[in-house]
Amino acid sequence: MSVVSSVPFGSSAVENRVRADFPGLVTRDGQPWHYLDTGATAQKPQAVIDATVRAMGADYATVHRGVYGRSAEMTLAFEQARRKVAQFLGGREDEVVFTRGATEAINLVAQTWGQASLKSGDRILLSLLEHHSNIVPWQLLAERTGVSIDVCPLDAEGRIDLDAAERMITPQHRLVSFAHVSNVLGSVLDVPRAVALARSVGAKMLLDGCQAVPRLPVDVAALDCDFYVFSSHKLYGPTGIGALWARREVLEAMPPWQGGGAMIDRVSFQGTTYAPPPARFEAGTPAIVEAIGLAAAIDYVGAIGMAAVRDHEIALVRTLRDELRRTNSVKVFGPDDGLGVVSFALDGVHPHDLGTILDEENVAIRAGHHCAQPLMEHLGVPATARASFGIYNDENDIAALLRGIERTKRIFG
Ligand SMILES: Cc1ncc(COP(=O)(O)O)c(C=O)c1O
Repeated sequence: MSVVSSVPFGSSAVENRVRADFPGLVTRDGQPWHYLDTGATAQKPQAVIDATVRAMGADYATVHRGVYGRSAEMTLAFEQARRKVAQFLGGREDEVVFTRGATEAINLVAQTWGQASLKSGDRILLSLLEHHSNIVPWQLLAERTGVSIDVCPLDAEGRIDLDAAERMITPQHRLVSFAHVSNVLGSVLDVPRAVALARSVGAKMLLDGCQAVPRLPVDVAALDCDFYVFSSHKLYGPTGIGALWARREVLEAMPPWQGGGAMIDRVSFQGTTYAPPPARFEAGTPAIVEAIGLAAAIDYVGAIGMAAVRDHEIALVRTLRDELRRTNSVKVFGPDDGLGVVSFALDGVHPHDLGTILDEENVAIRAGHHCAQPLMEHLGVPATARASFGIYNDENDIAALLRGIERTKRIFG
């Protein structure tokens, strides 16, 4: 089977070099591993692994507290990581709160801003394609406060239907919270229009950037949103860290969340005062090593350039969608201009069976509901097969996937 070699990333020499930077991309017996599950979590380049090992070994010390030199240096490195995240997102460093990931960041917003600002009668607008991380925190908030949740439908191709959102939105809506890029369909949100809709009724706009930050240039100032969240592990960095970016004045008005060390100004039994943001939302010893690993990941993708990453992923998606459409008995979900992610179904074969056979071919895809059960219900399937790309993928991975699909079809007759 021939796959059109239309995937730009400079030259194949560059692709090979990128691939060689990722020690995880070989099987235990040294074969190439066709890793197509970056939407779940990305493999790590050696530069991130090395930075993490150094931070946990020769450079290790606590931050913000030590009076000795190593701790002062570690504090500088940790705060430098925050600066890198801020620059990468186009925000200010005092607007970046480190969290465990996107899930914790959304829970933080729900439990601080949401709990303090919303009341019964207020409304939140979500969409049908949201990840559970952008549904359940709001449902928990609704149980506590009595706010109501509305669900924006999708258009025929699987984008958040902003015409419908325009009809649905009311002055009671205080928050619109949408995925920037869908983790199932790859649909990219028309952010300027979504933000304008939120602004038209005075609502805040949260963007779940989990699948966007690793795939396209993000500039929160240009996007003009109020909250932006992402996870490091999908951006080639370590697990256990991510970030909430929020406008300075919004963060300043938010009450503390978890209490403990580092988030205080002064503690006494008569009453405690709190540190300004971002420290106010970072109780306890932070994820020091992970922050430094995240900074190394940002350096790594920064050297490639996010515009090049986006073009690379657009080309891979286009190639795979075209090839799948040429393959009998495959249904492809989502819009043609989706980014980084392709969900599909093979007639008469459960995605788990397909995933198991592909595994025998050293091809790793995701099969399941992708933490988006309302979207599965809308698509009328219990699960989909999902191939998702990263900077190390090329047309060889697509060819291996297509070979595996053909073999599965033969096995299932
Ligand atoms: C769109 C989207 N939102 C949120 C999340 C949750 O991210 P994490 O589990 O890293 O907190 C994911 C992870 O798959 C995602 O794809």
